[in-house]
Amino acid sequence: MAKYPPLSLQFPTALFFFFVFCVILPPSVSLTVETQALLKFKNQLQDPFNCLESWKDSADSPCQFAGITCHEGRVTEISLDNKSLSGQISPSISALQSLTSLVLPSNLISGKLPWQLTNCSNLKVLNLTGNKHDWNLPDLSSLRNLQILDLSANYFSGRFPAWVGNLSGLVGLGLGFNEYDEGEIPESLGNLKNLTWIFLAGSHLRGEIPESIFGLEALETLDICRNNISGMFPKSISKLRNLNKIELYVNNLTGEIPPELAKSHPFAGN
Ligand SMILES: *[C@@H]1O[C@H](CO)[C@@H](O)[C@H](O)[C@H]1NC(C)=O
Ligand SMILES: *[C@@H]1O[C@H](CO)[C@@H](O)[C@H](O)[C@H]1NC(C)=O
Ligand SMILES: *[C@@H]1O[C@H](CO)[C@@H](O)[C@H](O)[C@H]1NC(C)=O
Ligand SMILES: *[C@@H]1O[C@H](CO)[C@@H](O)[C@H](O)[C@H]1NC(C)=O
Ligand SMILES: *[C@@H]1O[C@H](CO)[C@@H](O)[C@H](O)[C@H]1NC(C)=O
Ligand SMILES: *[C@@H]1O[C@H](CO)[C@@H](O)[C@H](O)[C@H]1NC(C)=O
Ligand SMILES: *[C@@H]1O[C@H](CO)[C@@H](O)[C@H](O)[C@H]1NC(C)=O
Repeated sequence: MAKYPPLSLQFPTALFFFFVFCVILPPSVSLTVETQALLKFKNQLQDPFNCLESWKDSADSPCQFAGITCHEGRVTEISLDNKSLSGQISPSISALQSLTSLVLPSNLISGKLPWQLTNCSNLKVLNLTGNKHDWNLPDLSSLRNLQILDLSANYFSGRFPAWVGNLSGLVGLGLGFNEYDEGEIPESLGNLKNLTWIFLAGSHLRGEIPESIFGLEALETLDICRNNISGMFPKSISKLRNLNKIELYVNNLTGEIPPELAKSHPFAGN
């Protein structure tokens, strides 16, 4: 050993550097991954007003990026409302394991909604209303924590997303003004007992309103206008004691507004 003093020094030296890099300056793998994911997300967007200028790889943490909220150093929210962003949502977003809220309404974002979003299993709020997304919606029914799902006013096509009936924690559901194939309102929407707001206007829906909808006792807004809903004006609507807004105009309903509704709901006289 005495013959090779440098060797005997090597081990502690290496240990020292290991200590410096991993203990004193933890490389914080999660932050690096999250920063990269956000920069890829930015890369797929056109940003004419430089709203994402603060999104730089020189930043230590993405928590200072405009529109980003963190909790304990992890990205929990992305909120970019009405920023004239176009382009597409990058699948890289799936790396954001703590994301609870993705809010990008009133932009010009187009293309397919990436199915990889299902990896963000903590999502509670997904609001993409007023964009230009098209293609079929991916099945997002594995996002069991969703409370707000607003995909209205885009160009989503294909089958009406009946899988929303599995998202039992939903409080607000907006699917209206899209380009689905003609179809019926799924019976399974009646599973969503916590729904207070449902917006299905202009969704190419035909057939009758399923009876299950009238078991949604928490419902405050029921908007199914501008479809091709037929049948008698549903008498059971008076079971919805918390309703304060009903929009059923431009459909193919017959019959009268039930008098019980007028009695139990002060608004019905209007
Ligand atoms: C979007 O932003 C523009 C300009 O910043 C503003 O004029 C417009 O009212 C906003 N629209 C919405 C829906 O907030
Ligand atoms: C999806 O989530 C798992 C953890 O649940 C993670 O290991 C994986 O890297 C994620 N996939 C992508 C594409 O981000
Ligand atoms: C949705 O729920 C139904 C039963 O209500 C079940 O058969 C189906 O597999 C579920 N779908 C998903 C994607 O979880
Ligand atoms: C519905 O809301 C109640 C009260 O906020 C909550 O306790 C319950 O877990 C919710 N149900 C689901 C399926 O999320
Ligand atoms: C989605 O965002 C828009 C714009 O901020 C808002 O008006 C709408 O109420 C949100 N949707 C839900 C269901 O909260
Ligand atoms: C509405 O649905 C009926 C069948 O229920 C169909 O005959 C009619 O053409 C549809 N109207 C529109 C405008 O799609
Ligand atoms: C209303 O429904 C009837 C019977 O299904 C159908 O013949 C008619 O075309 C529908 N009207 C419209 C405007 O879709």
